[in-house]
Amino acid sequence: MNNQPEKLVISVHFSDLLEKARGSGVHIAPLCDGEQFTDNPVLYRADRNVQVQRTGIGEFWHADHVHYSAGSMPNGEPIRSIGHWNRADQAEIFQVTSGRVVMVVVLPESPHTVFMATYHPGEWCVMPFGVYHITYSPWVESSVFNISCESAPAAGDKYARRPAPDVLLTMKAGTISVEAPPHTTVSTAPLSPALHSVPAGLEAFLPGADEAALRDLQTELAKLTAAGWPVGAVE
Ligand SMILES: [Fe+2]
Repeated sequence: MNNQPEKLVISVHFSDLLEKARGSGVHIAPLCDGEQFTDNPVLYRADRNVQVQRTGIGEFWHADHVHYSAGSMPNGEPIRSIGHWNRADQAEIFQVTSGRVVMVVVLPESPHTVFMATYHPGEWCVMPFGVYHITYSPWVESSVFNISCESAPAAGDKYARRPAPDVLLTMKAGTISVEAPPHTTVSTAPLSPALHSVPAGLEAFLPGADEAALRDLQTELAKLTAAGWPVGAVE
């Protein structure tokens, strides 16, 4: 089995999200008229594995560049990614390259803390380890570059790791807000700490990163997560 990730391009439609939401790992707002919908918009096109770096300990880092449509879906939610839980030691960073997105990030502890913030070109959203996250593109077509560390071979379906939290972004009268269960803490603080191990832009990082640089980033994110970050940012 070749564990090296291949470059590929996939297009994800609303119907694909609906199909994933049959499982408990993906949560979406219900359709107003049951399963019937006439519009099946492309939610995003993903260029997978545009950069790959392997480490000597059976892991690989890869970069994706994802291009989102804009507006809303037939169920009323803004255009979005499918959403999933990251693994408990998974490093992942997103940086907007065009447009404007909203990242919804849910910490694993219950009751949940949710971070909901808007990110513009050049801004990055750094995931604490083990979070659930969804990218939304409510306003304009947007592109987001991200890097993450995966074990090789990848461990199972990332959309079925555990049940999705009951957390959604809603848009009413042009205003976004988070819909979540009682006792959920919602913060609008951006998850954009300075990272010593990524001194330049994210797209420049992986191609020049040797094993020590990758280990440094993993360690820096582990320390941030262990220190309780971003709990200190909760408003
Ligand atoms: Fe992820």
